[in-house]
Formats: sequence, C-alpha cells, structure tokens
Amino acid sequence: MKTFSDPRRLQRWCAARRAAGATVALVPTMGALHEGHLSLIAAAKARGADEIVVSVFVNPTQFGPKEDYAKYPRDHRADAAKCRRAGATAIFFPTPATMYAPDHSVWVTEDGALSGCLCGARRPGHFRGVCTVVAKLFNIVGPQIAVFGQKDFQQATIIKRMVRDLNFAIEIVVAPVVREPSGLARSSRNAYLSAAERQNALALSQALAALTPGPWGTQRRRTARFLAAQGLKVDYVEAVEADTLKPVKTIRKGVAVLLAAFAGKTRLIDNRLF
Ligand code: PAJ
Repeated sequence: MKTFSDPRRLQRWCAARRAAGATVALVPTMGALHEGHLSLIAAAKARGADEIVVSVFVNPTQFGPKEDYAKYPRDHRADAAKCRRAGATAIFFPTPATMYAPDHSVWVTEDGALSGCLCGARRPGHFRGVCTVVAKLFNIVGPQIAVFGQKDFQQATIIKRMVRDLNFAIEIVVAPVVREPSGLARSSRNAYLSAAERQNALALSQALAALTPGPWGTQRRRTARFLAAQGLKVDYVEAVEADTLKPVKTIRKGVAVLLAAFAGKTRLIDNRLF
C-alpha cells in the first residue's frame, strides 16, 4: 500500500495508474476507521477497482465553530494498518495547509434544495465544506468510482446531486449502514460515548427497526417519544423522499426515515431506507 500526503504526488500517481488502464476507486473518510469505513473498501473491491485510494482527512471546513474538530479522533498508524488489511492500495493523509491555500476562496455549495433541511439546517456550512473537499478529492484522485456510506444519508444524496449537476464522470456507490451486533450504527463518534450513553444510543436503531410502511404521523410521534424515554435528546425525526429529501406523510418504498439525537453531548445519526 502506498502512502501519500502531497496532493500533487497523489494526483500524478493516479493519472499514471489510469493511463496504464487501472480502474481507480476513492473512499473519502475522516479517519478513526471502523468496520463501516472498511465495508466501503470492500464495496470498491467488489466493483473490480484496481486501485483503491482511501483519503483520511479531518476536514476543518465542514465543522462548525462549536463542533468537535479539535477533539475528533485521529490515529494515522491504526488507520493505515486497517486500510492495508482491508485491501486498499493507497492511503492519502493530506494536511489542512496542503488542502487549503491561506486565501482559498472557491467553494462548492448546494443551493439549499437538499442541504437546507435535516443535518444541513442544524449545521450551517457543513455541506459546503463537504462538497468542496469531496470535489477537491475527486479532482486530485480522478476516480472512476467513489464509495460513500448510507450512514450519512443526506451527504450521499447531496454528493450524487453534485456529481450529476457538475458533470463529474464518477460512479457513486452507496454502501449499506454497518452496525454493531447491538444494532448501533458504527461511527467514529461512538468513541465519545460513556457506557450509559452507548446503552441509550441503541434506541436509534431500535426505533428504526420498529417502523412499518404506512402513515408516518403516529409513527413519528411514537418514535420521538421513545427516543426521549430512552434518555436521548431528539434533534430531528423525519421521513423524506430518498432522492429529493422532501418530507412525506407515508412510509413506502423509496422513503428514508432519518433520526438525529444527542446522547449526552454526542450527536448521533441513523436512518432506514424503505
Ligand atoms: P466519515 O464520517 O469518516 O465517513 C466516511 C464515509 O464512511 C462516509 O461515506 C460515511 O457515510 C461512511 N460510513 C461511516 N459510518 C458508516 C457505517 N456505519 N456504515 C457504512 N458507512 C459508514 O463522511 C465523512 O467522513 C466526511 O464528510 C467526508 C465524506 C470524508 C468528507 O470530509
């Protein structure tokens, strides 16, 4: 497995690999890698990628001023070992200074149709940071395939829209949510949870598992009550059309139910696509 930190060196290597006929896949991450991330590497492999580039970059521009940028878990050595074992062929550890010029001034923004709701409404500027860094990674790596997780449902929806609207010639693969045996969706932020908070957090996947196709109103109220009763502070409980993120009144095929809640100070998200 090759290791890169300089964007230009990675860009040259990827260009050479493509010129030699290789299919290049990109798996963008912020590190503190877990089974969820590794499933994305497996998905890239299953698509027949010859080169699988995993980027590990805690992207400062997608964190709000009161969010966890400084304390976000970072462990490059462990991440590299996991990537190698999972079959990645290159890992990219850029620094904020090599990714953002001091006078960086061009951004990729979604106009609000998809980013004005759910996490986007509660984390102003978050998806501007995500779209910008993902577009930069696309331009550095030039992958034919990029793999994202359904865990961040709104993010995957916005990235697919960015690829469509800006004509990136990249196939976006969205891999299913990987869970712990308890049902808890795997997340780098689970590391922040105390034992009691981790127990309370199980309510998210339990609430999603209890949903059935049919009217949303009563199920929504029941879900919110259940999350609160299990000690979580509800941020949102929404059912939306998967592609447009427009709210719906009925759970049916093509609808995603998305939950966000705080376990103590830690904000967790989970979702289920019907
Ligand atoms: P990060 O939170 O590290 O997630 C990287 C990728 O792993 C995302 O596509 C996310 O959806 C996926 N992922 C995380 N947990 C998962 C799980 N339990 N099951 C399946 N996939 C999972 O998302 C980001 O980083 C950043 O916003 C990024 C796209 C890298 C841009 O900075």
